[in-house]
Amino acid sequence: MVAPASVRLPDPPVIFCAGVTKTYGDGALAVAALRGVDLEVHAGELMLLAGPSGCGKTTLVSIIAGLLARDGGRCQIDGLDFDALTAREKTRLRGRSLGFVFQSLHLLASLTAVENVAAPLLIAGVRQSTALAQAAALLGEFGFDRRMQQARPARLSGGQQQRVALARAMVHDPRVIVCDEPTSALDGASGHAVMDLLRRSVLSRRRALLVVTHDPRIFNFGDRIAHMEDGRITRVENLPSPHSPRPL
Ligand SMILES: Nc1ncnc2c1ncn2[C@@H]1O[C@H](COP(=O)(O)OP(=O)(O)OP(=O)(O)O)[C@@H](O)[C@H]1O
Ligand SMILES: [Mg+2]
Repeated sequence: MVAPASVRLPDPPVIFCAGVTKTYGDGALAVAALRGVDLEVHAGELMLLAGPSGCGKTTLVSIIAGLLARDGGRCQIDGLDFDALTAREKTRLRGRSLGFVFQSLHLLASLTAVENVAAPLLIAGVRQSTALAQAAALLGEFGFDRRMQQARPARLSGGQQQRVALARAMVHDPRVIVCDEPTSALDGASGHAVMDLLRRSVLSRRRALLVVTHDPRIFNFGDRIAHMEDGRITRVENLPSPHSPRPL
């Protein structure tokens, strides 16, 4: 049956996982890290992913970001399946559509803050002067003055490094951002500031965001929270009145 014109069908999810499985190693040493994960995140949504240490959160977000191959099930970003792409197509999809903040930030120690943020643009072939100007503008929005922008990561605080990693994940305006514990190393105020930036970027860009966290202090920044246990998402909960700051 055809839906009447006035009925708006829901947008397809930007992040889609169904029955995703992953086992590390084999034989007696095999660890079943994911045992059939279903998850959907829509445009304009900030989804939190929580669960005990070792339940499979990093494994899941690495598969979603195309950094790790799954064993079974389906997983798509904007309708595209990383595992069906060539290495070159994967790099292109990641460069265009995805920002990733690692649990251990992976900032490049020899580059300044602004150079770290500009890196995804340079890799995508943007001219150096343009890339650095764009990176500087974004870091400015994140509260970095000129001196801080020229500092190498070792000279920045944990919270400042976290903001550099976040700016680097956003600078190419991706449709999906995945963050693995972006506030774990931060005190309450810095964690709040990081989540505020993420929330604003969802509201203004209608991005899909998936944020792994252990930190109950930031639960009110999400729209929904997926609870993970022993390789499965056992429950997805709507969060009451998410924090709605001024869009970025
Ligand atoms: N490269 C690997 N080789 C073998 N086992 C691994 C590997 N990476 C993770 N595991 C195992 O897979 C399971 C899930 O790990 P994962 O890192 O996804 O958990 P997590 O939920 O992110 O934990 P944490 O909250 O501590 O970061 C754990 O039992 C872990 O020991
Ligand atoms: Mg982890």
